[in-house]
Amino acid sequence: MTPHLLSVDDLNLDALDELFSIAERLEPVARRQKVTRILEGAVLGNLFFEASTRTRISFNTAFCRLGGTVCDTTGFTFSSMAKGESLADTSRVIAGYVDAIVMRHPDRGSVAEFASAINVPVINGGDGPGEHPSQALLDLYTIRKEFARIGKTIAGAHILMTGDLKYGRTVHSLAKLLSLHAPMHFTLVAPPSLEMPVNLIEMLMARGHRVDILDSLDDVTTAIDVVYATRIQKERFTEEMHDVFSGRPEAYHVNRAFMDRRATPQTIIMHPLPRDSRPGAHDLSTDLDTDPRLAIFRQTDNGIPVRMAIFAKLLEVDHLIEGSLRDV
Ligand code: CP
Repeated sequence: MTPHLLSVDDLNLDALDELFSIAERLEPVARRQKVTRILEGAVLGNLFFEASTRTRISFNTAFCRLGGTVCDTTGFTFSSMAKGESLADTSRVIAGYVDAIVMRHPDRGSVAEFASAINVPVINGGDGPGEHPSQALLDLYTIRKEFARIGKTIAGAHILMTGDLKYGRTVHSLAKLLSLHAPMHFTLVAPPSLEMPVNLIEMLMARGHRVDILDSLDDVTTAIDVVYATRIQKERFTEEMHDVFSGRPEAYHVNRAFMDRRATPQTIIMHPLPRDSRPGAHDLSTDLDTDPRLAIFRQTDNGIPVRMAIFAKLLEVDHLIEGSLRDV
């Protein structure tokens, strides 16, 4: 791994196997069945300049579970960037205070810019519509665990990604990670103007994967192994897009009726969350909430060991794990 985690482009299958092995070893700590202090004395700067519930709190929890402490800031209002301080100056200052930084920012490329002049490890917690590497890692960790439980392999799997595939940074990072595996079948279903970026579709095809692009979930004809639903990110729309957006929400609505038509008893239902519960929004229906195939809260739970593993690896303390574990 590089000193930072800015994009999943920096990862290969060996790095994934190593990271997930660390995450597995840290599962008892994540669940507080064991405790460790391998990051005692270390401080995390958790900088969120865009809304977050899961990523911010789970990175915070992961660092604390490893024995470290966390300084949090949320929103531009409570940062001196509100007084005109540049990203570069902010980065140089904070690097002098902390041992690791997680940052979320509304602009694509901003986290890499922030990291460019400092040696303190920086983790991209989401840079606008760019990438969300830790979410993709916990998504892949979840797929591997779910598949192991039901005896499936990722090679040859049929992955359906639906919703906002343009602004949904989690699908960008997850598609890249999945593409590292042996050939599989991707079906992409998005509203007009919110399709998966062409460079990512070309990357999938160049790596030997089958890619089908459909207009509606009604057009899906073959059985799916993973449904990955996403929210329409209207907060990223330009003014004109608000005027012309004509997505038919029901065409991308993952609900019981769709699952009855196109899924199998072993299809896994995923969503990076948050799902949009406002009137008129239809990403993932609550009518699947009692369905055991719904993995969304197993996904969020997996965020803790995976984010602990990222810290352990970036801060080079993974070799200390076994000797440090104590009973609660
Ligand atoms: N999945 C995700 O990034 O959630 P938050 O926006 O709540 O962090």
